Amino acid sequence: MAKGRIFSGMRPTGKLHIGHLSVIENWVELQDEYECFFAPVDWHALTTGYEDTSKLRENTRDMLLDWLAVGLDPEKSTIFIQSHVKEHAELHLLLSMTTPLSWLERCPTYKEQLQQLGEGKDIRTYGFLGYPVLMAADILVYRADTVPVGEDQLPHLELAREMVRRFHYLYDTELFPEPQPKLAEIAMLPGIDKRKMSKSYNNDIAITTTSEELWERVRNMVTDPARVRKTDPGNPEVCVVHTYNKIYNKEEVTERIEQCRTADIGCIQCKRRLADKMVEALEPIWERRAKLEQNPGLVDEIIAAGAEKARREASETLRLVYEVMKLN
Ligand code: TRP
Repeated sequence: MAKGRIFSGMRPTGKLHIGHLSVIENWVELQDEYECFFAPVDWHALTTGYEDTSKLRENTRDMLLDWLAVGLDPEKSTIFIQSHVKEHAELHLLLSMTTPLSWLERCPTYKEQLQQLGEGKDIRTYGFLGYPVLMAADILVYRADTVPVGEDQLPHLELAREMVRRFHYLYDTELFPEPQPKLAEIAMLPGIDKRKMSKSYNNDIAITTTSEELWERVRNMVTDPARVRKTDPGNPEVCVVHTYNKIYNKEEVTERIEQCRTADIGCIQCKRRLADKMVEALEPIWERRAKLEQNPGLVDEIIAAGAEKARREASETLRLVYEVMKLN
């Protein structure tokens, strides 16, 4: 049986934090089961960040390097940068002709972001309204049938399927699969202050960091505020270290709960142990990342080869689209 085909992308926000790690690790696992296309979507970054593009190239490359370091494998998957494959833009243009404005205007993510970002940043642009059209183009240009995404992206995928149905109806064809979301069980890691992890809150832990920086972050993790003295019993349920132990220190988590509740371990000691465990888990990633950084030529080759492979597939789709639309 033919493998299913995956496209997924991420807006290039620069170096990833460990909250993203489980997302990428999920992609790593999908690489054997599916034919995969993965791209930092730098054009999407422009939909909200068109004013200041000074960090865009660096952020795009940093994100891609993190992907490779975590284990996305250019031998297995097609890994490339969105803007290197102009066919995404071409299909976006064609889909923009057939997509009713009302579909885009009532998209919940559009309405929300317009309200939230609305102040300060002017996102009342044609490009921002068309975000879901560009996203549909990303997927459809590879005729991908499966899209690993977070729940927040479901409205966009629903729109992509509507665009497919309308395209099929208008041009009397069955060219595209209707892309289905693939939701994964992704463990939600809080930031060190217990809020949602985000670079903008400065509460994140970068995937690529050093053991010193990592310790700095773990040392500052929020613990049970009611545990004032080391001799006070603690409540692991409200402690960030405990949440991390469940992921990075599975073997000792039961023991830790006990020791915390009976005040048999101090927070610093508990944090030390977690930091050691995290270093153990992250070190192989750091090593791979360092190797890639030392060999920028190799990275350039990977990126160029990825774009070429992607282009081959994408241009074949465009050829078929032109045929049914009677263009050229
Ligand atoms: N909108 C997605 C996000 O913010 C990123 C994205 C762009 C994407 N194009 C895509 C995801 C195509 C999956 C498929 O996370």
